[in-house]
Amino acid sequence: MEVLPAIVLFIAALIVNGSNEFRPDYEYHASAGGWFKFHKVPAKWHDARLMCSLEGAVLASPINVDVSDVMQIIVHKNEPTTGVYTGVNNLVVPVIYNSIEGVPLSAMPIRTRDMFSEEYSSGPQCARLLPQTGLVAGSCSDDLPYMCYKNQTAKLGSNECGTTDTDYKLDKRTGHCYKFHKYSLPWTLAYMTCDAEGGQLAVINSAAEANVVKELFAKYPPPTIKRGHTGVVHLGFQVWNSSNVWRTINGQSLEQAGFANWTNGAPNSYAEYYGSMTRTGQLDDTLGKHAPFVCEKHPNNIVPVPNNV
Ligand SMILES: *[C@@H]1O[C@H](CO)[C@@H](O)[C@H](O)[C@H]1NC(C)=O
Ligand SMILES: *[C@@H]1O[C@H](CO)[C@@H](O)[C@H](O)[C@H]1NC(C)=O
Ligand SMILES: *[C@@H]1O[C@H](CO)[C@@H](O)[C@H](O)[C@H]1NC(C)=O
Repeated sequence: MEVLPAIVLFIAALIVNGSNEFRPDYEYHASAGGWFKFHKVPAKWHDARLMCSLEGAVLASPINVDVSDVMQIIVHKNEPTTGVYTGVNNLVVPVIYNSIEGVPLSAMPIRTRDMFSEEYSSGPQCARLLPQTGLVAGSCSDDLPYMCYKNQTAKLGSNECGTTDTDYKLDKRTGHCYKFHKYSLPWTLAYMTCDAEGGQLAVINSAAEANVVKELFAKYPPPTIKRGHTGVVHLGFQVWNSSNVWRTINGQSLEQAGFANWTNGAPNSYAEYYGSMTRTGQLDDTLGKHAPFVCEKHPNNIVPVPNNV
């Protein structure tokens, strides 16, 4: 007779413990190690991405079996016949479909349709999740429901760079590996290059990390830079729509990421939408034209592991 109330209390404690840690409008799913929120008010993809970001989460993608299972359950429960937007998109470059977190589509345990066929191979595509069907490529300007996901931070530690590319060097101060590219590229191609190398365009998470990149940049004085801008390196942040909304490529504000020391007067110009660092170690905005850049790689993982997402 006394066992039942104990069990009820225990389960209630589990639910309260999980659901109150992040936000009351998010639902905790222990199996997926994080919180979900279904947005039934439809939005265009860019606005869905911005909304999740403003809530402190990311537009959800089926990045692994557990997250995928919960997403399917939520879609099924809410019955959106149109499907829901996921974070999976090829907006940076047409040949790369990644989640917001940087997980490649090829690593996702889910069926896909139309993602690579010729008629979809050009132009921006934002993948939607349909019950039964899986991920389907489509327009980013439809109005669809969507869901946001907040992962519990998992810390991984290592002291190798996990790549055969010996240009990546571990820095003990941050525990991450860095590679300087002196052959200048436009910002979008720099992003693509780091991604293809198994890293990402460097995201500054602290003043210490800013110093790491500043010191690395100092090893390459202007004459060693091949072509383009010699006074800045491209970094992994950019404008999301409104010129005031700067986000890292992992979806955090600069303050959330841990470093927001802009150079004097920046960000200033209306058309400068791409993030960089000056030789003084401060952040700057540029047009995204040719400049050297720094890639960052987590030692344990070919997929970038965001610090605080
Ligand atoms: C949460 O994020 C960490 C670090 O990115 C990752 O290793 C882990 O698999 C994620 N958990 C889930 C359930 O996605
Ligand atoms: C953001 O930019 C996209 C693409 O240019 C556009 O479709 C969308 O309406 C914009 N959203 C906001 C809130 O400005
Ligand atoms: C920003 O960076 C400059 C140059 O390194 C430094 O002098 C200044 O103290 C920094 N400001 C803050 C608020 O950290």
